[in-house]
Amino acid sequence: MPTDLQNINTIKIVVLGAAGGIGQSLSLLIKSQIHYLVRSHSNVRIHLSLYDINEDMINGVVSDLSHIDTPITISSHYNDLENCLKNSSIILIPAGVPRKPGMTRNDLFSINAKIVSQLTDSIIKYCDLSKLFILLISNPINSLVPVMAKKLMSCSNNNGIEKRLFGITTLDSTRGSTFLKNIVQEQNISSGLQLMEMPQVPVIGGHSGNTIIPVFSQCSAADNLSQETINNLVHRVQYGGDEIVKAKKGKGSATLSMAHSSFKILTKFMDLLLGNSPDITITSFISLINSNNEPIATGSIELQSRIQDLQFFAIPTIVTLQGINEIKYKIIDYLNSKESNDLLPICINELKENIDQGLNFTTV
Ligand code: NAD
Ligand code: LMR
Repeated sequence: MPTDLQNINTIKIVVLGAAGGIGQSLSLLIKSQIHYLVRSHSNVRIHLSLYDINEDMINGVVSDLSHIDTPITISSHYNDLENCLKNSSIILIPAGVPRKPGMTRNDLFSINAKIVSQLTDSIIKYCDLSKLFILLISNPINSLVPVMAKKLMSCSNNNGIEKRLFGITTLDSTRGSTFLKNIVQEQNISSGLQLMEMPQVPVIGGHSGNTIIPVFSQCSAADNLSQETINNLVHRVQYGGDEIVKAKKGKGSATLSMAHSSFKILTKFMDLLLGNSPDITITSFISLINSNNEPIATGSIELQSRIQDLQFFAIPTIVTLQGINEIKYKIIDYLNSKESNDLLPICINELKENIDQGLNFTTV
């Protein structure tokens, strides 16, 4: 049966910073894998729009990717953000500088805030904010989401875009899952997991050091671990990024595991955009209030009352095509005493500073 060309729905996926370590590997996953999700949709086309300020590299990357035999169309953009961004459905942003050994994510703030802020201006100018989803990857997430949110909320026609802005923290739960699986296998601890089954570890808070709260108490596969083993796992998840920065010896930070984690979350958003599911559940770093200073969704007030009124937090949410619909704040009530008395207060104190840094950012 011929496809009805009149009714083709194009989903345009944009990657800003596509010539970098994350950008390249994420773009490869999208170009080579995403069409498996669309095979049953005869009227959907996917376009991959890749942008970077490194002209030679982006053209080379796109030329290389364009030989991959999938039906995903692809375009390279160097100095035309308008063509790159217009009609986009979802934008992933790994543009910016990564850490070197000895640096914290905060040390990236001044340079990456400028980059992300300029990209936000272009998104406001060229995109239809009423439909768009924005997935921010660049660090420091805890401060850059506030930079972007403030800018998006201050534009007059923002169409509730702050409900569709997500700081990607998936790598923390990816690590929690991997490290827990390794421990139970190595130490032959009973976990209830099948051989090829991975545990799901909820992680809330923020995305740097002590702001990362892995909630092993809510993962039954960790039930038989000693408190000492849990403490070590928590620390390893909180500082997992440093392991990679150290191992790469000045040549960057996590790229492959991050591309994998971003792709995992992108596939959930694709389910939403394709109408496979009316809503998805995702954990990410989000604003809890909207541009009118009102709760962003059901559960915002309840969450804020438990985290000293922080404006941003990484928490599980239910997301529809309109954006965040419900905040699953009850995970805070289920924390065990170690998580709620030790990890949460430290997280809140650090997050407060990180968020203020982002909200106070101004371009000169
Ligand atoms: P990279 O240096 O390999 O790539 C960054 C790319 O951004 C480069 O190609 C560069 O040319 C491009 N770029 C710079 N300024 C730009 C601009 N104004 N517009 C478009 N592109 C621009 O770095 P990477 O390893 O890919 O990491 C990118 C960012 O992601 C870093 O800030 C890193 O800390 C962060 N990161 C976040 C997570 C997370 O869990 N959220 C995980 C890993 C890395
Ligand atoms: C990570 O967690 O690996 C990333 O945030 C990159 C970094 O700087 O550690």
